[in-house]
Amino acid sequence: MRLEGKNVLITGAAGGIGRATALRMAEEGAAVIISDRNTDQGENVVAEIKEQGGRAEFFELDVTREVSVQEAVSFTEKTLGSIDVLFNNAGVGGEEKKLHELSEEEWDTVVDINMKGVFFGIKHAAPVMMKQGKGAIINTSSVLGFKGKKRSGPYNASKGGLVTLTKNAALEYGRYGIRVNAVGPGVIDTPIVKPWREDERKWNIISKANALGRLGQPEEVAEAVLFLASDQASFITGETLMVDGGGLTF
Ligand SMILES: NC(=O)c1ccc[n+]([C@@H]2O[C@H](COP(=O)([O-])OP(=O)(O)OC[C@H]3O[C@@H](n4cnc5c(N)ncnc54)[C@H](O)[C@@H]3O)[C@@H](O)[C@H]2O)c1
Repeated sequence: MRLEGKNVLITGAAGGIGRATALRMAEEGAAVIISDRNTDQGENVVAEIKEQGGRAEFFELDVTREVSVQEAVSFTEKTLGSIDVLFNNAGVGGEEKKLHELSEEEWDTVVDINMKGVFFGIKHAAPVMMKQGKGAIINTSSVLGFKGKKRSGPYNASKGGLVTLTKNAALEYGRYGIRVNAVGPGVIDTPIVKPWREDERKWNIISKANALGRLGQPEEVAEAVLFLASDQASFITGETLMVDGGGLTF
């Protein structure tokens, strides 16, 4: 088992990529704290993990509130005894508007969840991991951290920011035995892409715009996160591993 004895905190674990990763990590022996602002779905994920014989607990979290993230980290440490892996995964797509149409509030909503939330996660987990002398942090960026998409300004900016924030944190904490990496999913079959599905013609193009010519599944992203979290990635840090079917090949 690749994560035997490891204690994991996942944000945005109630759905999509977070849920798939939680299930996969539990299968590989990890104890997992499922944290999300969606309590009902989060509790469902805990029940699924317990049904398959794994260990999990739910913690209600809003990543935009520093105190909430701080509490999630202490809950993990208290409940499981340590925090070996933090998966900063909570994220939102935001309104499909051009920059001149966006209000400050709409901008802040996306950037606060997607980027400030990750800052809070690292800020509060890093001291615990420094004390332990080890840890792995994985952030969820996106292909849209590398290329532009119309009507996705705050999403583009926040996911692009995570690529270099990941490098910054890798540098700041590497000497403490902490690795910090990111995953860069392409178009993945989760609720976040629901607005794109509404225009069938566009969806047909967007969902296949990669070298493999198909939509990705959350379980395929989970495998990459599992690898980065595991000791098999012991000399990998500061990296963003694309899981995009070759979406950046053109
Ligand atoms: N699905 C894709 O095509 C795709 C592509 C690239 C990157 N991503 C990223 O993957 C991550 C997971 O998204 P997903 O596709 O699984 O979608 P999703 O909507 O299923 O999952 C996002 C989760 O984050 C939670 N969340 C949102 N705001 C939160 C907050 N303030 N506090 C705590 N939890 C919050 C939601 O409740 C939800 O459970 C996101 O960061 C997203 O930007 C997704």
